[in-house]
Amino acid sequence: MDEPIDQQGIARARALLATARAVVVLTGAGVSAESGIPTFRDALTGVWSRFRPEDLATREAFLRDPARVWAWYAERRATVARVAPNAGHHALAKIEADSAAKGIEFTLVTQNVDGLHHAAGSRRIHELHGNIRRVKCFDHGHAAVAWDESGETPPRCAACGSRLRPDVVWFGEMLPEGALEHALEASRRCDVFLSVGTSGLVEPAASLAHAAAEAGAAVIEVNPQRTPLTARATIALSGTAATVLPLLAGSAGYVAPRGL
Ligand code: OAD
Repeated sequence: MDEPIDQQGIARARALLATARAVVVLTGAGVSAESGIPTFRDALTGVWSRFRPEDLATREAFLRDPARVWAWYAERRATVARVAPNAGHHALAKIEADSAAKGIEFTLVTQNVDGLHHAAGSRRIHELHGNIRRVKCFDHGHAAVAWDESGETPPRCAACGSRLRPDVVWFGEMLPEGALEHALEASRRCDVFLSVGTSGLVEPAASLAHAAAEAGAAVIEVNPQRTPLTARATIALSGTAATVLPLLAGSAGYVAPRGL
């Protein structure tokens, strides 16, 4: 992690971002790691090194033990409510604002459910895996804005009485309607695709970078580890999101206003 920063790679990546017509950014759990949210697959600290996805992140798991699944997500919801966006999230919001000012089309696609991109001020976001801050009912997907934690676990939907669940995508479920289509279309149309903090192991998100590369886009990767995308990347920047993204955004040293 303490490798020297590839200044030449940063300069090339900045030039690509500054002269693009359309930019797509794909983020994964790594972009929120420095906010204190564990990733999924890091060998020691990853969520899936301590829990099995099939016990917690499938419809079958919820039907088997809804109270356990609800409680696990309630804990993760409390974590995301406690933490703040880091310099990486803020840098992406700045790249979006600077792109808009120059007429560059900018699309942020995230696999994260923590809502930290919104909190940092990003605007055009496609959340492929939902958002853990939202809750809906199991049977009909009615959105719940308030619920009573003091009674039955999980609480019931005020509209139909079915159980409430997090509004995230579980393994085996469809992505939110339209989200993948928009992300794929933007990826095929962009000329710069920036992949940040994702292992590239979960489909269909993983195929977006490849779709962009096949359509001729330059691919920039930011990750402290190698991934299946690294060999294909036009520029692979080895480092963390909170150190590398501010350099790409020209915002190193920038301190985000409080409350963002
Ligand atoms: P992973 O946990 O699979 O991968 C996280 C990536 O972030 C790894 O490649 C790390 O090397 C990298 N990383 C770690 N710290 C970083 C940092 N500070 N800065 C930049 N990169 C860092 O997470 P995802 O790729 O997001 O799906 O996982 C994809 C999906 O699998 C998740 O959305 C989730 C999970 O199961 C569902 O829950 C449906």
